Amino acid sequence: MPKDTAPAWTPVALSADLPAASVIPARLADAALALWRSAGGTVSAVADRCPHRGMRLSHGFVRGEALSCIYHGWRYAKTGRCLAIPAHPGLTPPEAIRVATYSAAERDGILWVAAGEDAGAPPAHDGFAGLRSITLAATAETLAACLGTPLSDGGLEWSVRETRARLLIAPAAEDGSILLHLLLAADATDAEKVAASRALETLRRTAEAAAVTGEAA
Ligand code: FES
Repeated sequence: MPKDTAPAWTPVALSADLPAASVIPARLADAALALWRSAGGTVSAVADRCPHRGMRLSHGFVRGEALSCIYHGWRYAKTGRCLAIPAHPGLTPPEAIRVATYSAAERDGILWVAAGEDAGAPPAHDGFAGLRSITLAATAETLAACLGTPLSDGGLEWSVRETRARLLIAPAAEDGSILLHLLLAADATDAEKVAASRALETLRRTAEAAAVTGEAA
């Protein structure tokens, strides 16, 4: 795994899963997030809780460069500041109305989030491309034991037949399951992508069975 890893960064999604002008839920180990991309392509991450009445902002919608809450339509900038309150169209919302923000970055087809600011650059995965993400009801340690590969910087080196692959791991839920992103060599053929995707499903079944029995293959 690359050594320029900033430990604070968590891989929360693949770029392909967040088109322009959309919002999806995401997670850090201790925080639920709304991850959104503006119409212009900027990626931002905010706490998944509207400051008004607590609605999940990941249920909201994106218009232009702002994220709107689905409940009463309060609109937020990527800085977290509330820009507008539809019920009071003449009001400039006070500075104090804002949603907590996180550092967000995009690199090599992966979306990264870190708590706070000035997290530096996220890890590089030159030569790889994100293929798919899955949730796995097993720990990272169980997964590593199934592959017989040591965990390194929050991920695992893997190969499917002769194709180089990487597995990036992020906490997915409060139940202890993990979120797994499969990266494949950027020059992989369609047939290699299909094979890798199937191998990932097999790996999931193996790891989840091992998690239940307490035995890693
Ligand atoms: S709960 Fe979000 S605008 Fe009211």
